[in-house]
Amino acid sequence: MTRRRLHLNAFLMNTGHHEASWRLPESDPYAHVELGHYVRLARTAERGTFDSLFLADGPQLWSNLAQRPAGALEPLTLLTALATATEHIGLIATASTSYNSPYNLARKFASLDIISGGRAGWNIVTTAGAEAARNFGLAAEPAHAERYARAAEFLDVALKLWDSWEDDAVVADKAAGVWGDDTKIHPPRHRGKYFSVEGALNVPRSPQGVPAARPGRLLGGRQGVRGPLRGSGVHGPADPPGRAGLLRRPQVPYGGGRPRSRPHQGAARHRPGDRFDGGRGTGERTGP
Ligand SMILES: Cc1cc2nc3c(=O)[nH]c(=O)nc-3n(C[C@H](O)[C@H](O)[C@H](O)COP(=O)(O)O)c2cc1C
Repeated sequence: MTRRRLHLNAFLMNTGHHEASWRLPESDPYAHVELGHYVRLARTAERGTFDSLFLADGPQLWSNLAQRPAGALEPLTLLTALATATEHIGLIATASTSYNSPYNLARKFASLDIISGGRAGWNIVTTAGAEAARNFGLAAEPAHAERYARAAEFLDVALKLWDSWEDDAVVADKAAGVWGDDTKIHPPRHRGKYFSVEGALNVPRSPQGVPAARPGRLLGGRQGVRGPLRGSGVHGPADPPGRAGLLRRPQVPYGGGRPRSRPHQGAARHRPGDRFDGGRGTGERTGP
């Protein structure tokens, strides 16, 4: 008989999900912006064998201040702090494809994945509502199909960026004085409807390679997402043999035996010297 496993995710919210949670005698009305509050919850969830922590998010001020504590710490920032206070629980941040750019967001998730030792997860949302749209120079939210078309291309670019470093791009050969192999860097050189992204990611390949990513609509929506998300559901490390849990820490230490990057058939090759001029050959320094 196959043993089935139950996966547990802690959806942490504010001082609690109930709007009056802050009024309980034992509640701290400032807890939603206190790191210590989240550290306690994260450690409790980890001790209770939860697979992951989840933070919802939207780039707008939710709720009215008279009623309950408002405002929230930015999820990737908070999860990066929690990564240092926990050991193996998965850390899932909600982030919008409508109000972010793929390069910046792919960099942040890769950084969280490295800092947490391979525990980053992304709840991909397109952010519904006019309130958020008005914070980004739009009068109304983009049409539903438009948001999801952008999301599909956003993820496509993010995947190209995470795959822009091959697993063995870094050789760290002190004796030979060679730190890395430029032929193993693959700039996306992406030109699409919504995004144009030339160069490789400025973060080395992370432990998961591709931080675990799940379209929020599969959690909360009616149907799956089109494009590169379709049929994939989750991008992340294959479960190690005998273990379930997409967001568990890889059993190998960082730097050894990580998931292989996907083959770069026909992909652009990074040329030495590309790094600072995006391949335009201007010699102008455009990156750190
Ligand atoms: C439990 C749950 C949590 C959600 N969290 C978020 C969130 O943090 N941010 C967000 O923009 N949308 C969130 N959503 C909304 C979904 O991503 C999705 O946009 C919604 O279900 C409507 O689907 P639609 O985008 O097709 O209109 C959540 C939905 C559910 C059910």
